[in-house]
Amino acid sequence: MADTKPKSNPAGMSMRMKIVVFYGRFAPSFTAVGYVARGLPLRPLNASFKGQTWLVTGATGGIGKGIALGAAQRGATVLAVGRNVAALKALAQQGGAGIVPLQFDLALVAANLALADEVIRRGGKLDVLVNNIGKLDHAHRLTPEGFEGTYALNLLGHFALTEKLIDAGTLDGGAVINMASGGLYNTALTLRRLEQNPDRYSGVMAYAAHKRAQLALAERWTQPDRRVVSYTMHPGWVATQGVSTALPDLERHLGLVLRTPAQGADTTLWLAARRPAPVPGALWFDRAPRAAHAYAFSRQPEVEPEAVYAKLLADVAKVRSADASA
Ligand SMILES: NC(=O)c1ccc[n+]([C@@H]2O[C@H](COP(=O)([O-])OP(=O)(O)OC[C@H]3O[C@@H](n4cnc5c(N)ncnc54)[C@H](OP(=O)(O)O)[C@@H]3O)[C@@H](O)[C@H]2O)c1
Repeated sequence: MADTKPKSNPAGMSMRMKIVVFYGRFAPSFTAVGYVARGLPLRPLNASFKGQTWLVTGATGGIGKGIALGAAQRGATVLAVGRNVAALKALAQQGGAGIVPLQFDLALVAANLALADEVIRRGGKLDVLVNNIGKLDHAHRLTPEGFEGTYALNLLGHFALTEKLIDAGTLDGGAVINMASGGLYNTALTLRRLEQNPDRYSGVMAYAAHKRAQLALAERWTQPDRRVVSYTMHPGWVATQGVSTALPDLERHLGLVLRTPAQGADTTLWLAARRPAPVPGALWFDRAPRAAHAYAFSRQPEVEPEAVYAKLLADVAKVRSADASA
């Protein structure tokens, strides 16, 4: 593993200053500059996914669209999940017969469970599941199911979807790829930041906590009894609607050197093609396992991974029992 030697926490700085320091430190690696410096444009991915079936969440825009198109171009049948009918139609037109649009708004856990049911109902195996949707929201919002919105979208919903597909055997022998972010450097594994009180809410820290938790899930899903291999990756900084909305400063200052969606999709396609041996605790980025810590403080987890797993299971169970009694 390489790239990110832990340094001390820049404690005492305002959140805005921390963000500036964060951008300055990681821009050379995370932007297109890093992609070029690592020689990736000279190493096109020669891979065939013919005969494979993929499920990609958030496939209508940004990195998810790059992944869906990249997989379909290489022969995969891609169950492409989005909530916008027109965007799904446009994706199918662009990607051709390999794109199978599925309209689901995955903001609710129940919708993720319904998506899993739909995939199971269709039969057959999934070769690759890409848990791609992710959002950084600076405002605290509750979903109708009672969860903080980004917790439900970034982590809990994907957890419900993946667990159900694993339990059904649909993913046997397959790969689960979690789309995380360098934003996870900002926290240790934690429970208290997964869902924060509205009066103390920080979208940046919530996002970091969700992405950090994805690493723990990948390790759990890679255990032999789950019959899948799972990776957690960082796509780099990519020019997408998500960045425009959540991080306009990043777009304003680094817009010219942000990666393209295809570049952001590259490591997903590479992982699916190569299926490298999992490296515990690694954050995959630019086709290599990298350290998932840039600061010393994040190395000491606040809780065991089991505690996070237990919370997620309990929260999915709440939704299931509410649905059963409705
Ligand atoms: N972009 C970056 O620089 C960057 C860096 C690090 C990590 N990431 C991670 O990469 C992933 C993708 O990021 P992105 O920048 O490509 O995001 P994005 O531009 O916001 O695109 C997300 C996709 O998800 C869809 N989506 C959002 N909410 C949905 C919902 N409730 N139900 C169904 N579909 C929904 C969006 O569709 P709509 O158009 O309908 O909203 C869109 O197609 C995220 O996990 C993000 O955290 C991104």
